[in-house]
Amino acid sequence: MELTFDEKRILGGEDGDVLRKSMELLIAIGEAFDAPRMIDVNSVHITSVALNTLREAGKGLIEKIANSGARFKVFTTVNPLATDYTQWEVLGISKEELLKQLEVVDTMRKTGAILCHTCTPYLVGNIPRFGEHIAWGEASAVIFANSVLGARTNPEGGPSGLASALTGRTPLYGLHLEENRVGQFIIRVNTALREPTEYGALVLFGGRVHKELIPVFVNLPQGINWDALKMMSAILHSVSSAKMFHAVGITPEAKTEEQALGGKKAVDVIDFGKKELEKAIQSLDQATKADVDLVYLGCPHCSINEIREIVKEVNGRKVNSNVSLWVSTSLPVKALADRMGFSEVIEQAGGKIISETCPVLFTNQTIRNLGFQSLTTNSADMAFVFPMVHGLKAHFGRLGQCINAAVSGTWE
Ligand code: F3S
Repeated sequence: MELTFDEKRILGGEDGDVLRKSMELLIAIGEAFDAPRMIDVNSVHITSVALNTLREAGKGLIEKIANSGARFKVFTTVNPLATDYTQWEVLGISKEELLKQLEVVDTMRKTGAILCHTCTPYLVGNIPRFGEHIAWGEASAVIFANSVLGARTNPEGGPSGLASALTGRTPLYGLHLEENRVGQFIIRVNTALREPTEYGALVLFGGRVHKELIPVFVNLPQGINWDALKMMSAILHSVSSAKMFHAVGITPEAKTEEQALGGKKAVDVIDFGKKELEKAIQSLDQATKADVDLVYLGCPHCSINEIREIVKEVNGRKVNSNVSLWVSTSLPVKALADRMGFSEVIEQAGGKIISETCPVLFTNQTIRNLGFQSLTTNSADMAFVFPMVHGLKAHFGRLGQCINAAVSGTWE
């Protein structure tokens, strides 16, 4: 790789051992992918800060970085934790794990990370420009940044994200390059989609057809909102290795079908109608028991608009005494929900807003401590990932259906 004077200086150890090792790692990645050089990044999002994904080795690594005096050079946000530390006792985590998790939080604070602890950094101030090169982890956010914002990032793992945060560099390859961002197959949408859940089902269907190709969605409505695009981004990473999608007339690199395909011919054109929509939803609704015990909304973390929609559904109703209703979001969005009185409505119904965490990041033991037998959700991503991680089945359906289940205690 061709290195600048400054990069050679870092590699020579002039800025310390931690930066030297970071540069070595980025060069090794760059060489593995034939990157000709490094590029500057001004935005990093670090994945794997929850205890069970970080593990002792990762915790040791970030402590070493912080204790060396090295600090993040660029604006860096961080992913969710293994618990909501304001409600840890009711979320099944032990005090010992909590204290370890808080040590990680402290370490990240020392290194200069912005402690937003969310998978939706773009909702809390980490908002890259169109065309900007960034280094983000957290696959759902990576796909949102590439597809919806038009920023450019490869999916960074924990160590490479840390290295980019410390050096402000990332190797130039993959989705940083125009030619790797073109759509490859078309999904024509022939049915009305009414809520984020249904958009999630659309991507579930499309991603399963061609698991390695970038999809181009055609006929999505102009009125599609960020919540739907957020839901689409989350499920794509679970069912496909593609790290972006296009939606013609909606996402910024797809003003036309031709632009989305980079002037090439689509390798396939598939149709998505009402039948495919219902089939996709049913395919993830795998739990066999009708009893519901955990209804989880907020994967990816809820926007304030999604919480407003939930409040409309729960207002004046009571969650069944056998059911936990959790609405998951980031701390800033929760603060707004508190101010709007949304949190109070949810609490009065018997639910709770949890922040800065996600049940996928809980340990299996934590889930066992809580005694849940299944999970019910309106997120295709959560319905897909939670059973794989925790070995429990999920019910998947529209928001109204999930809230009805929370109230009745039964999935219909
Ligand atoms: Fe976020 Fe957890 Fe879903 S990290 S994208 S809420 S699986």
